[in-house]
Amino acid sequence: MKVIVCKDYDDMSKKAADLVISNIIEKPQIKLGLATGSSPIGLYENLIKANDEGEISFRYAKSVNLDEYVGISADNDQSYKYFMKKNFFDHVSFNEGANILPSAPENDEKYAKDYDKILDEFGQRDIQILGIGENGHIAFNEPADKLNRRTSIVKLSESTIEANSRFFASEEDVPRYAISMGLSDIFNARTIILLANGKKKHEAVKKLIEGTSIDPHLPASFLALHPNVYIYVDEEAYRG
Ligand code: F6R
Repeated sequence: MKVIVCKDYDDMSKKAADLVISNIIEKPQIKLGLATGSSPIGLYENLIKANDEGEISFRYAKSVNLDEYVGISADNDQSYKYFMKKNFFDHVSFNEGANILPSAPENDEKYAKDYDKILDEFGQRDIQILGIGENGHIAFNEPADKLNRRTSIVKLSESTIEANSRFFASEEDVPRYAISMGLSDIFNARTIILLANGKKKHEAVKKLIEGTSIDPHLPASFLALHPNVYIYVDEEAYRG
């Protein structure tokens, strides 16, 4: 794991975007794995800017997303589909049908199986973007005795419900279940970029960077097994 300590959120977003941009220049038909949440918004802004300035184009690129809440429709402003449109897809032109997001209108494992098939057809991602939960989750793989290899319907932990309640009118409104890529699928990316900023991420980041074991109670610790992981972390998340 290569750890890049950045001054602040903007610096983290810019540095991570520069790596993505150089990969897109090298391979315009890039396959991207995308994340939602507050961590990658600045990265997306930098990619949009590079696209506007003609440095890169998404015309030949394709993307898949990590996760989505169960039971939330695409037009709900808390859905990850809405998030991706608002923060990225509405601002750059991908080819029609090039963006894939998981969908689970009900709490039913069949939607997870369907997404596995989609991921198998999509093939290896060149880059997977990740955030990290305060509890060390990646995608919605929550701390547990066992972690899912492939896409699953997962129950969100209390810590995640509380952390994500900042986006909802109240904590009760946060969905209790999500559909999430599993660890094998996250690992099926040539390069992984994890973004972590702010004091609230310090504990998880410290355990991830300084840890000496692979621990399903810190799902991000599995990243130590991947050969090509970049952790972009701001001073606050790094030093606490
Ligand atoms: C989002 C995702 C989550 C977030 C994590 C951090 O697609 O998979 O794992 O990356 O919960 O969220 P933020 O960035 O909002 O702190």
